[in-house]
Amino acid sequence: MMRDAQPRTDSETGEVRVPIDLFDVDVHQGAGELVLTCGEARTLRDHLVGQLDIVTQVDDGASDGHGIPTSSSSKPSVMLEMLALSGLAPGERVFEIGTATGMNTAWMCERLGAENVTTMEYDERLFPDGRRNLRLAGYGPTVLVGDGLKGSPERAPFDVILATCALKVVPEALLRQVRDGGTIVAPFGTAFHSFSYLKLDVEDGRARGRFTGDPDFMWARQQRSRYAAVEDIYNGEDGTAGTTRVSPYELWHQGDTEFWIGLHVPGVWAQLHQAGEDAPGEATYWLLADDRKSWATVEFTEGGQEYATEQYGPRRLWSEVADAYRSWQDSGRPGRGEFGLTATAHGGQVWLREPTEVVATLW
Ligand SMILES: C[S@@+](CC[C@H](N)C(=O)[O-])C[C@H]1O[C@@H](n2cnc3c(N)ncnc32)[C@H](O)[C@@H]1O
Repeated sequence: MMRDAQPRTDSETGEVRVPIDLFDVDVHQGAGELVLTCGEARTLRDHLVGQLDIVTQVDDGASDGHGIPTSSSSKPSVMLEMLALSGLAPGERVFEIGTATGMNTAWMCERLGAENVTTMEYDERLFPDGRRNLRLAGYGPTVLVGDGLKGSPERAPFDVILATCALKVVPEALLRQVRDGGTIVAPFGTAFHSFSYLKLDVEDGRARGRFTGDPDFMWARQQRSRYAAVEDIYNGEDGTAGTTRVSPYELWHQGDTEFWIGLHVPGVWAQLHQAGEDAPGEATYWLLADDRKSWATVEFTEGGQEYATEQYGPRRLWSEVADAYRSWQDSGRPGRGEFGLTATAHGGQVWLREPTEVVATLW
């Protein structure tokens, strides 16, 4: 899914300016932007259509939420990336978690044959739409409604289980429903950093593999984190004041750092709130906890050497995060691609470089 990037059209020149991180291009001009003239923009639009995800539901369909996306048709490029990762070959059997519109399911039917495709959608209101879309498009996979994290024992074993929602835990039920030598592919993460794929090879009920990619998926509904806004957790309390010499920008959107912190500080996530035009160069870095009882802030000022902190609730969130940041530095600043995960019926462990070098037990 797309993050923070928006194409802009110049009404006088007709030029379209697109942040280049929106998609892969060989040639680009300008600082971080691809600039195209009108004729080219048509091609660009075609290209962008392939690069945009379409949100089809927010807040589980409730009308009074914060507008948090809860269902979508993923970016086609992301679907293709996942299908490539899964290594699915014609005739293999797949179980997909999260049918949504049915778009990805249809692609799998084309490749594998509909009789080999089982898909499950948890949301009872979305389920009939996905099933109808697939029928109208001429595909007849098995479309089920329910909690895909429990798999589909009746249809197992599968060659591949593909989750199209992010997991924090690989459920034991899934390990049991993949054949030996089969694969589980899922967006996977922690509250602090959820932007990785896991490709796990399954053998004897044990799944093992490495972190890769940069996907941004919504959570599996039973494993949600980060499902709140500041105002749900902060009620004007005064926290314990302090200072830090760590700038929030050493952490914010720093994938390798955030990944490590997520392993060591469970159930906590960050938001950066820019102060706006009145105070350019100022920002508040919020830390919020899934327990909805703890919060912390770091007040960033450009050019500052020391930043004011506040911490409230049973957990000292900034202290936890700063400690984890220091331990990442002390460990030689490992990159996300150096980590892997082993999941068994007994739990999930993250390791660094070799499966024997366990750095965190996640469940
Ligand atoms: C990103 S959308 C799926 C996208 C779709 N497969 C595609 O590729 O376009 C995620 C979907 O997963 C569904 N979902 C979340 N948790 C689930 C669960 N435990 N079992 C089945 N579906 C789930 C959500 O309701 C949502 O429709």
